Amino acid sequence: MTAAAGRPDDRQGEAGGFETLAIHAGQEPDPGTGAVVPPIYQVSTYAQDGVGGLRAGYDYSRSGNPTRTALEECLAALEGGPRALAFASGMAAEDCLLRTICAPGDHVLIPHDAYGGTYRLFDKVLNRWQLSYRPVHLADTGAVRRALAERPARAVWVETPTNPLLSIVDIAAVAHACREAGALLVVDNTFASPYLQNPLALGADAVVHSTTKYLGGHSDVVGGAVVVADPELGERLAFTQNATGGVAAPFDAWLTLRGIRTLAVRMERHGVNAARVADMLSTHPAVTGVLYPGLPGHPGHEVAAKQMRGFGGMVAFRVRGGEEAAVAVCGRTRLFTLGESLGGVESLIEHPARMTHASVAGSPLEVPGDLIRLSVGIESGDDLIEDLRQALPR
Ligand SMILES: Cc1ncc(COP(=O)(O)O)c(C=O)c1O
Repeated sequence: MTAAAGRPDDRQGEAGGFETLAIHAGQEPDPGTGAVVPPIYQVSTYAQDGVGGLRAGYDYSRSGNPTRTALEECLAALEGGPRALAFASGMAAEDCLLRTICAPGDHVLIPHDAYGGTYRLFDKVLNRWQLSYRPVHLADTGAVRRALAERPARAVWVETPTNPLLSIVDIAAVAHACREAGALLVVDNTFASPYLQNPLALGADAVVHSTTKYLGGHSDVVGGAVVVADPELGERLAFTQNATGGVAAPFDAWLTLRGIRTLAVRMERHGVNAARVADMLSTHPAVTGVLYPGLPGHPGHEVAAKQMRGFGGMVAFRVRGGEEAAVAVCGRTRLFTLGESLGGVESLIEHPARMTHASVAGSPLEVPGDLIRLSVGIESGDDLIEDLRQALPR
């Protein structure tokens, strides 16, 4: 089976297409100097013209900073929401959102294969504040409906594609179930990026990103973002962000914005290379299964083709010989660097059970030991295929 392309890009709003927004939204040339790139406002405080006389609405950089504003305006445009907030990391964004929308005693449905750090936040931090959670197979909308009927939830936390099993959740269908049950729908859009998927347009209330990944795109900055559908929620979130302080620093915001300008072309190339890698792995005798939503045999393929514009750069696969064999493959690649994280221009390989998802060991979210995760970069596709071939047992 050959990995397929997603649906064509249908976005061309009044303000322009995706690529235009990525390069121009929030990024007008500097009025004072004409600099075409927003300056790094490396500053903590701002002169006031008399008490309370703010020149451009800024008084202190925890509350607001022009470089961060530029990033936030661009993120809001790319996700199609009225308000975005940029954070010091994806986890800071998640924590701020959850502490804004939830109160002690609330209940949240989470993916049965969530990112390990998200699970740790629920299981080890927020549970101490009486926020309960339940892992549910969110790809099964019937299971979501049943879980919501059994116990009211304040929110449903979706990842799609999931990290690391690449399962696909039908965002529009889950949004419908959430609306009926009075729950908010949050979608972690890190794996797809706004270039491939816009959850707010499909009915989500909030989108979360680890901008560390595809948005930044160069493995040189850690950051996070939340984009909301409701401006009033945006105001409440901004209040919590200012009160708790996990904001993106000016230089980090600038680096992330620089990465975003090339997001569209990078995502295209990630997708082409990942489809080639998935095709090669699918026929390799040492591989027992390939998890890539672009493959027609993937259980979420149809939904992914409906809600994504392409299938992205993440591929997971299982190898013959179990955990030790998987660990050995991870140690044999030369071009795929062994390391955590994803979404950068360079290809990465990792062993989720011992690395990114070690924190879910022994929990209902435990991942298989024979699983390998690839973040397929934008190097020459032939070189990537060759590297994997030489690393896999013959
Ligand atoms: C899907 C997903 N969400 C959230 C995060 C957390 O982001 P950060 O590492 O920027 O805090 C990650 C990190 O790997 C992730 O993969």
